[in-house]
Amino acid sequence: MTSGYALAGEGLHREFGSGAGLVRALAGVDLEIRPGELTVVRGPSGSGKTTLLNLLGGLDRPTSGQVLLADGKALSEMSESDVLEVRRTSIGYVFQSFGLIPVLSAAENIEVPLRLLETPADERSERVAQALEAVGLSKHGHQRPYELSGGQQQRVGIARALVNRPQILIADEPTGQLDSATAVAMMDLLTGLVHEQSTAAVVATHDPQLMDRADRVVELHEGQRLG
Ligand SMILES: Nc1ncnc2c1ncn2[C@@H]1O[C@H](COP(=O)(O)OP(=O)(O)O)[C@@H](O)[C@H]1O
Ligand SMILES: [Mg+2]
Repeated sequence: MTSGYALAGEGLHREFGSGAGLVRALAGVDLEIRPGELTVVRGPSGSGKTTLLNLLGGLDRPTSGQVLLADGKALSEMSESDVLEVRRTSIGYVFQSFGLIPVLSAAENIEVPLRLLETPADERSERVAQALEAVGLSKHGHQRPYELSGGQQQRVGIARALVNRPQILIADEPTGQLDSATAVAMMDLLTGLVHEQSTAAVVATHDPQLMDRADRVVELHEGQRLG
């Protein structure tokens, strides 16, 4: 699989608004996200990182250009229900603000994607236990998000994103709310899991200390790739 991609963007353009208020958030970006690799998307605020990740993750559609899956199908042209199916089965998301459900325990948060897939109960508990262990939180599964530190909450977020072994992981500024030591530890954890599980990961960040964890770096400037 080293020669193939899990996800590719071809000639991605995304414009918002119209007339004098037109914003070209992305102006012709090509990229490939490969299995077992961590691709970092970097660039200053407003350079189009979030816009790009939203297109790659099927949360938004390009004005022109295509997002292709490994089988060559265009995610950007599928029906809403087909996109939803791809998102549930093949993509894990990690959010800057963690995105955990406050009334659920860590274990229950991690279980949510498996419930959406109607995974049987005994398999769910086994997978949740494995995911908790993978992120070093085996003893914390019963705790609610507010009882966990920021770094622990983001570990729960990573476990939730990876619990159904998605081919693709998308993380938009996942360390944005963490102090720098915690951010580095989280990034090392994420990199290890991505390599181990052959996940194709794409992470947006403007944190320079995270660049050396990347297998590839895509640098954006005003909606275009540099270099
Ligand atoms: N929904 C939207 N409506 C209008 N403009 C938007 C929208 N989303 C993003 N933009 C604009 O697109 C550009 C890129 O934004 P964004 O992708 O969020 O950049 P980054 O994540 O790198 O900070 C910015 O100029 C931003 O203001
Ligand atoms: Mg952003």
